[in-house]
Amino acid sequence: MKITQLIFLLCFIFSISSCVEAERKKITKSTGQLVFEKYNCKSCHTIGRGKLIGPDLKGVTNKREKVWLEKWIRNPQELIESGDTIAINIYNEYDQSPMLPNDLSEIEMEELILYLSEKK
Ligand code: HEC
Repeated sequence: MKITQLIFLLCFIFSISSCVEAERKKITKSTGQLVFEKYNCKSCHTIGRGKLIGPDLKGVTNKREKVWLEKWIRNPQELIESGDTIAINIYNEYDQSPMLPNDLSEIEMEELILYLSEKK
């Protein structure tokens, strides 16, 4: 076999295996992770990889009450305006860059919070 053919063959095998790998990752995504991606939380937050535009959400389910999280995720502004001190503090801490409301279904919210609580 010529060397060029061998290289071609290796590339081919490699591209198939990376495809399979990508496919496997897709399948193993949890519903909560898909919700996190669907509502673009990902563009402003990491879970365990440090601050982006918003805070790192690792351990946030230990830090905050579930009801608080639901309210915040649905409508941060409303919670701030209601005078909630935690909400006001994080809003001030993050240079008052606003997080917008998110219209999640009940199930999406459950799965999202589960995802945040399980993510290590
Ligand atoms: C445009 C950027 C942006 C997007 C998109 C976004 N956030 Fe935020 N988020 C922020 C910022 C900034 C803060 C800090 C508070 C503030 O300034 O409003 C924050 C704060 C939070 C907090 C409070 C953290 C704490 O320490 O209590 C949670 C929880 C949160 N976001 C979850 C989410 C989830 C879940 C989504 C997706 C549904 C999301 N965010 C989408 C920018 C964003």
